[in-house]
Amino acid sequence: MFAEGNTTFVLIAAHSGEQFNQTLPYLLIATALIVGLYVVLTIARARRVEPKSKWSPWEWAVYAVTLVSVGILAATSFGAVLSVGVLSGWALLAHMVGAGMFVFVLPVLAITWCEPSRFDLRRYGQRGPTGPERFYWFPKLTFWLLLSAGWVVAMTMLVSMIPWMGTDELESMLEVHRWSGLVVVAAAALHISAMVMQRIGKR
Ligand code: HEM
Repeated sequence: MFAEGNTTFVLIAAHSGEQFNQTLPYLLIATALIVGLYVVLTIARARRVEPKSKWSPWEWAVYAVTLVSVGILAATSFGAVLSVGVLSGWALLAHMVGAGMFVFVLPVLAITWCEPSRFDLRRYGQRGPTGPERFYWFPKLTFWLLLSAGWVVAMTMLVSMIPWMGTDELESMLEVHRWSGLVVVAAAALHISAMVMQRIGKR
């Protein structure tokens, strides 16, 4: 009976994600191309770089745990979707390990990184020295994208665990989960590239 239920679950998940599964390879390639284009344009247009304030070891640690959890979540889910078409078995278990890390670290990331990633509009109209900022506009933008899509990706699954929705609503939540997960991964990839550009002094 359990095996039967499991098969039904796998079939529903596979069917509801058909469009996502078909477009995923192209979207991942597009993401890689956008990252490549961003890196090339940033290096080509590199000019005098504004000094940036330093990161604390705590900020480094939070960022590293976030990236590791996003890496686990992306590898387990996209790997399973691309190879067998559906996330199940050991890959799903590993996805849950990444999910635990991600749900724990996301609020910590928000608290730790919100302040340096703030768009301080008062700075832009100001003349004279304003003190070093931690990030320029692009990592700030991708940080907020990562944070908001990360909130959606976690909430779609956490809310689905409360028994108040039917099959159709749960399928819709899973669909939103898939697409917002892709946005998290794309935002994280762009954010890392922006961080690398800052570290090597190109921005
Ligand atoms: C970067 C973050 C994430 C990405 C890229 C991601 C991606 C995905 C994708 C693509 C699927 C669908 C696989 C399929 O079609 O079979 C999926 C399923 C799932 N994800 Fe995530 N996910 C992320 C974060 C999370 C988090 C934070 C949780 C838990 C709070 C979670 C829990 C689940 C569960 C339980 C499923 C299976 C749902 C089902 O098939 O009914 N994921 N994830």
